[in-house]
This record gives sequence, C-alpha cells and structure tokens, in this order.
Amino acid sequence: MERVATGIQGFDELVEGGLPAGSTTLLAGVPGAAKTIFGLHYIYNGAMNGDAGIYVSLDSSPKDLKKQATRFGMNFDPLEQSEKLKVLFLNVPMMKVKFSMFDEIKKAVEEMNAKRLVFDNMTTFAINMDLFSMPLGYMGQTASSITLNANFVERLNQKDETGLQRSGSEQDTVHYTANSEKRLIYLIVEQLRDLRTTNILIGHGNQQQNGTVTTDGVSEFAADAIIDLYNDLLGAKRVRTLAILKMRQTNHSPYIHDFEITDKGIVVKPAEQVIK
Ligand SMILES: Nc1ncnc2c1ncn2[C@@H]1O[C@H](COP(=O)(O)OP(=O)(O)O)[C@@H](O)[C@H]1O
Ligand SMILES: [Mg+2]
Repeated sequence: MERVATGIQGFDELVEGGLPAGSTTLLAGVPGAAKTIFGLHYIYNGAMNGDAGIYVSLDSSPKDLKKQATRFGMNFDPLEQSEKLKVLFLNVPMMKVKFSMFDEIKKAVEEMNAKRLVFDNMTTFAINMDLFSMPLGYMGQTASSITLNANFVERLNQKDETGLQRSGSEQDTVHYTANSEKRLIYLIVEQLRDLRTTNILIGHGNQQQNGTVTTDGVSEFAADAIIDLYNDLLGAKRVRTLAILKMRQTNHSPYIHDFEITDKGIVVKPAEQVIK
C-alpha cells in the first residue's frame, strides 16, 4: 500500500506512514482548530519532496494563506515558481457568473500533474453551491466508468427531486440549488476522487453532536478517512487534540493525541503523553 506522508511532525506514525495514496480524507474541526494550517503543511511538505500539490481555497486569499505559511517557515513562492505548488483561489461570492468549479480544479491538476490536493472548505462550498454549475458526465471514456457514472446519475435521481434541475444527456451541465446540498457534496467528492490525487477535504466540525462529524453531515460518509481536530476548554485553557476516526486500509492510532502549534507549525504528541 503506497502511503502519502503529510510530513506533519508526529502525525504520519499514527497512520502507518501517511494517507493511503489516492484516498480522500475529511479533515474536520471548529473554526480555529488548525485545519488550514494542517492543509498548508500537507501541500508544502509534498511539494518540497517532489509531489506537486494544489491548495484550493474558497475563502482565504492566496496572500493570507502564504502569510500564515510563512509564520511556520514555509515559503510557497519558490515552489510556485517551479510549478510544484499552486494556490487556486475560487472565491465564490466574487464570481459574477456561474462557473464549473470542478473544471478549474481538474485543469490545474492536469497542468501540474498534481499528486496532492487540499479543498478548503466543504462548508463554504455547501453554502454557495447554487452559484456553481457542474457537469454530471464527469467520468472518463472507459466502459466501467460510464457505468459508474450512470449509476451515480441514478442515485441522484432516486433521492428527492427538489432543487435538481437536470436536462438532456449526462454531458449536460446541471445547476443546483440550495436544496441539493447533500447530493452536491457527494458529487464533488466523487469528482475529486476521480482525479486520482490524494485529497484532504476540509469541513466545518460539529463536535460529533447529533451524531455528525461535520455540520453538513454528509462529507463524512463520502470520505475514506476522517481526522477530527478539537480545541476544547480544559479549566481556564483550551487544549488542542486530534483523533483519527476512520481510515480505510489502515491500522491507525485509536487514541486522542495532544498537539501544539509551535513556530514550526503543528506538532502532534505520541500517545504515551496522552494516556497517563
Ligand atoms: N504563529 C502561530 N503560533 C501559534 N498559533 C497560531 C499561529 N498562527 C495561528 N495560530 C493558531 O491557529 C489558529 C488558526 O488556525 P487555522 O488553521 O486557520 O484554523 P481553521 O482553518 O481550523 O479555522 C489561530 O486561531 C491560532 O489559534
Ligand atoms: Mg481555515
């Protein structure tokens, strides 16, 4: 099994060396939980080791992301110049017209032959989804993928019809409205998976209230792996911890691990320091 190391200090050993190649991981947590910092490490460390990577940002500007990365000694500029790293800023509310977000991402992945992708974040995407258009016929040319695509279309149609306006063939563009939220989350996850990059999707955490990991309640089912970041009150102080809730094909740590944000960024503590 090929593993994709995040390079985050103390993390990879919790998951047999890294994320399973080609998998899609949901990274969930409340605002300020360090999701974006985690994603920046992942893309930067990959690029430094030869894996081209794309950081798709829906709300933070590339300038702000780079400033944050610089605080931890990560300089994106030379990696961007050598086309090992790209921040793709798809600032949805600023878009004047509906656009196919997936096409933009796919184009960038193909141009750079990217191996890693971060999507920050599913929640902004879900809120703004009526601004997106997406082709249903996203799959490639092989017979099996067309079958899969047809199944996917069928699955979409089995659910309630509210808000889904579909016309013509699978190659047509479909516009979604807010009611199609859950469906569209599945669709974007499937599309990103189809790129064969190793993906981290960032989602707004729900602290597992009402039995859901994210506020959308859907991303967790579409993902192969879930990492949950917490920032909880302990007395008068907040402590940062993380847990791997699931990771397919991986004997991952069952513990809740403390982590810190140092001047080098995220540092995850081994379990021995957690269980006393
Ligand atoms: N240089 C730093 N040193 C220590 N902590 C930092 C530093 N920069 C940011 N942080 C912490 O990280 C948080 C932001 O993390 P971020 O990844 O943007 O959160 P999220 O994406 O989960 O909302 C800040 O609220 C702050 O607590
Ligand atoms: Mg963030």
